[in-house]
Amino acid sequence: MSRNSTARGPAVVPGTRSGPVPATMSALRAHRRGGPEQLALEPAPTPPVADDEALIEVHAAAITFAELGWDEVWKHLPMIPSHEVSGVVVAVGRSVTWPQVGDQVYGLIRFDRDGAAAEYVSVPAADLAPRPRTVGHTVAAAVPLAALTAWQALVDQAKVQPGERVLVHGGAGGVGSYVTQIAARLGARVTATAFTADVAHVLRLGAHRVIDVATQQFDATPAAFDVVIDTVGGATLERSYPVLVAGGRLVTLQAPPSAEMVARHGIQGLFFVVSPNRDELSALAAMVDAGELEVKIASTFPLSAGRAAFESGAHFDRPPGKTVLLVRD
Ligand SMILES: NC(=O)c1ccc[n+]([C@@H]2O[C@H](COP(=O)([O-])OP(=O)(O)OC[C@H]3O[C@@H](n4cnc5c(N)ncnc54)[C@H](OP(=O)(O)O)[C@@H]3O)[C@@H](O)[C@H]2O)c1
Repeated sequence: MSRNSTARGPAVVPGTRSGPVPATMSALRAHRRGGPEQLALEPAPTPPVADDEALIEVHAAAITFAELGWDEVWKHLPMIPSHEVSGVVVAVGRSVTWPQVGDQVYGLIRFDRDGAAAEYVSVPAADLAPRPRTVGHTVAAAVPLAALTAWQALVDQAKVQPGERVLVHGGAGGVGSYVTQIAARLGARVTATAFTADVAHVLRLGAHRVIDVATQQFDATPAAFDVVIDTVGGATLERSYPVLVAGGRLVTLQAPPSAEMVARHGIQGLFFVVSPNRDELSALAAMVDAGELEVKIASTFPLSAGRAAFESGAHFDRPPGKTVLLVRD
């Protein structure tokens, strides 16, 4: 069954469900590729649920402004954006053993699927985890993409060990603030780069040292770090190769590091694209519930103002943190 079926009539639910699920829902959709101007709130079929999927009643959905520029988001039309969700399971497919109907879940939705800017979204059950319980849906929805990226950079890619010296470029940013916090939690000695206004904040997140890039050079001392996580790129990346010890690990988020520079400095160059992972989401939820992970919300918009929410990405004075769509209370 195609998840993008436009068949009229009740949503097809092969497994269990909590009660009647309406056949149609409100969704923020685009019928043509473009920017926020293509997005409109309109009735849409409630998505069907495949055997390995769960249907989520969406409470909050977080926005990644850049997603409207990614090819995979536009692989089907009409498309629904916002690929981080927190909500309640209302139906599950036949082969799903977890979650169950009524469970509160959160997750990252793969970018080639419809997103969560809608009253309902269907998601492979394996991509979901129990949401953090000490915070509301709004905060939970703001966690998955940036925090999973940080976790996968540090744990899956760099395999950071306690006591290692980790340099985080952009330690105040969406991903960098989680890298700073998680690296400190892993027992690394964390140095972060940031602009002057963010230095105190990044120290509070757990960095042992913050290099103010307005006044200090992060590459003044060669071979000073075991691991570099680069969320900035450009000239910052170009200057990062010599700061690693031989055998050190350089993780980039925008594009793979230069193979030539990696070979010249005898380091490992690592690039990856974040993917959903239940165990990692569960670990992150536990960190949130333990008060070990600060989650920043820049602003919230009701689903009905979804287009305005995407347009707010162009505002230069936007505060740091996630923009979240509130779908239900
Ligand atoms: N590969 C993946 O799976 C993956 C996943 C998520 C994100 N990404 C990519 O990762 C990158 C970072 O994303 P993000 O959401 O964290 O962006 P972001 O929130 O804009 O964070 C970047 C941070 O770096 C700061 N910064 C800019 N130039 C700097 C410099 N020269 N030195 C030190 N800090 C500097 C920025 O400060 P200001 O805000 O003051 O400019 C900001 O705090 C993006 O390119 C994104 O596309 C990749």
